[in-house]
Order: sequence, then structure tokens, then C-alpha cells
Amino acid sequence: MDAVVCRAWGPPESLTVETLPDPVPEAGEVVLQVRAAGVNFPDVLIVQGKYQMKPELPFTPGSEVAGVVTAVGEGVRHLKPGDHAMAFLNVGGFATHAKAPASMVLPMPEGLDFDTAAAFTLAYGTSYHAVVDRARLQAGETMLVLGAAGGVGLAAIEIGKRLGARVIAAASTPEKLAICREHGADETIDYSREDLRARLKALTGGQGPDVIYDPVGGPYAEPAFRSIGWGGRYLVVGFAAGDIPSLPLNLALLKGASLVGVFWGEFARRDPRANLANLQTMLGWIRDGSLRPLISARYPLSAVPQALNDMAERRVTGKVVIIP
Ligand SMILES: NC(=O)c1ccc[n+]([C@@H]2O[C@H](COP(=O)([O-])OP(=O)(O)OC[C@H]3O[C@@H](n4cnc5c(N)ncnc54)[C@H](OP(=O)(O)O)[C@@H]3O)[C@@H](O)[C@H]2O)c1
Repeated sequence: MDAVVCRAWGPPESLTVETLPDPVPEAGEVVLQVRAAGVNFPDVLIVQGKYQMKPELPFTPGSEVAGVVTAVGEGVRHLKPGDHAMAFLNVGGFATHAKAPASMVLPMPEGLDFDTAAAFTLAYGTSYHAVVDRARLQAGETMLVLGAAGGVGLAAIEIGKRLGARVIAAASTPEKLAICREHGADETIDYSREDLRARLKALTGGQGPDVIYDPVGGPYAEPAFRSIGWGGRYLVVGFAAGDIPSLPLNLALLKGASLVGVFWGEFARRDPRANLANLQTMLGWIRDGSLRPLISARYPLSAVPQALNDMAERRVTGKVVIIP
């Protein structure tokens, strides 16, 4: 098989494309011929050795794929060679073939294309777990989404709207905000030009949002948390801006608010059944048109460094996929 290989921690340019032996499934594993692989922010961090999980070198990055099952290990009953399937893996996705534990592989429903299937699991799985399981967002509540035109951000907008909430999207350019509106955002804030707190106050009649979805951190976290409504839930999803912010805890006391951690990969590992149920619910929402994953670019294996740099430099909207 052909695979992108990371031999030493470093910038995306240090990745190479190499020919390696095809993977063989062990008991409980599934091997797929990859038709599309989703790119996610953790891929940018993992190749530099800056992610919370450090795989052993050398390794192939890429954590979600869709493709055709070529082999299954002992004990795998829900899939057979020839089936179309989508999978979440820790690493190994940016390759022509990949293997995953069977509990993380889902048969693809009819009508879903490989690109959409590859772009769906991580972003939508994370945002559903955050918004539904962790924040318990209710119809009629208001949710603010930071970094709203990115992979998990756009998914959070669509899920929030499907649940009947009012969604305020915040992002850094007018073009990104236009995409947020196309995907359902009721209101938008350009946080690179506008005062986040003043705009939130105006848009919520001084009440503040009930839920804040934060995959960005950095300079936006404290002003956002200061604006949260009474009984609000602040979802700590990620730190795309680089800095891990500190928050004065008196703010939580004054608003009766909760800081809520979100770690989808660990949730999916500990409770694969609940995760599969979440994904099945959302596959139904794709069928009824409520969710419309945006794929903004497609790259070959040789352009994985460009895809990762686009993401690191804030040029990506929605999802980017690799077509090996
Ligand atoms: N907790 C979990 O389980 C979980 C699961 C998946 C992902 N994540 C995390 O969620 C975050 C977003 O992931 P994603 O795949 O959606 O990434 P993404 O598509 O690149 O979105 C991240 C957004 O962050 C904003 N941003 C602000 N400052 C940035 C900077 N200095 N560099 C890059 N982006 C910056 C960008 O929007 P603007 O330009 O509009 O500001 C960008 O659209 C990452 O931190 C990732 O690790 C967490």
C-alpha cells in the first residue's frame, strides 16, 4: 500500500509518501481500502508531537476514513469484504489501506458518498457528544459557537439548529460567516473586528448565551465565558488558537455556570455503543437533509502537508478530505 509516513516529529513538510506492506487484520479488526480520509486539527498537532496522544514513530497520520472492506479478523460479524464502511482510528488513515477495531467501524448507509462518510465521524461525533450528551442543549436555548466555520464548529451549528436552538456563530472573516449562515446560523459575529462581549449582549438582550461551544480557546475564551447566561454550560472542546486559557473561577460562581470538558475519542472508546447510537441518529439527520457536511477541498496523498498547513493557518472551512 501507499501511505503518508511520519518518521520524526516536525512540520507537515517532513512527511513522506512510502510504499509499505498491506495491513493484515488481527482478531476483532477490519481492513479497508481507503476511498477518502478526513483531515482534522489533531492531525496537525500529532505529526509535531504536540498532541495529548503521541504514537510510536514511525506512523501514518489520519484518524477517519471511508472505504471498501477488504478483510475482517476473527470474530467480526457486522461487516464482510466488499461492504462500504466508515471508520475511526487513532492513526493510519492517510494511506490506500487502513485497519481499525471493529467497534469503531460502521457500515455506510445507502446513498452516502465516501467523501461525506470520511468527513463525518469525528467532527459530527464530537459536536453531538458535546452539545447533546454534555451540554444538554434544549430547544429555544441560545448557543454561541466559536471557530464556527471549522470542522467541529460547522457541525455544532447544524446540530444546534436540528435541536431547535438559536445559534450565534463567531468566526474571523466575512466569507467564513457567510458559510455559517448557509449552514443555519441565526446570527453572526466577526470576532476579529467586532467586540465579542458587546455583540453578545446586544444579540441576547443582555441575557448571554445558555451554551458556549469553544474549539478555539486563546483570547476568545475569557470574554466569551464572561458573557455566558445564568446556568450556562461552557464546552471546552479544543485550543486551535494554541494557548490554553485560564479562567477566573468566580465567573462560574456568579453565573451558576458549568465548565464542561469534552473528549469525544475517549468517550467513543469507553462507550462505543452510545457513540454508535449518536452516529446513527445523525445519519438519519443527513438523510432528512438537516445535516449537510461541507467538503471544501480534496487532496491526493502527496498533498497531505498542504492540507495540514491550510488547517494550521486558518484557511480551511468545513472539512478537507484526502483521496488516496
Ligand atoms: N475535544 C474533542 O473531543 C475534540 C475532537 C475533535 C477536535 N477537537 C479540537 O477542536 C478544535 C477544532 O478542530 P477542527 O478539526 O474543527 O479544526 P478547524 O476546522 O481548523 O477549526 C478550527 C477553527 O479555529 C479557529 N482558529 C482560531 N485561531 C486559530 C489558529 N491560531 N490556528 C488555527 N485555527 C484557529 C479557526 O476559525 P477562525 O479563523 O474563524 O477563528 C478555525 O476554523 C481543535 O483544537 C481540535 O483539536 C477536539
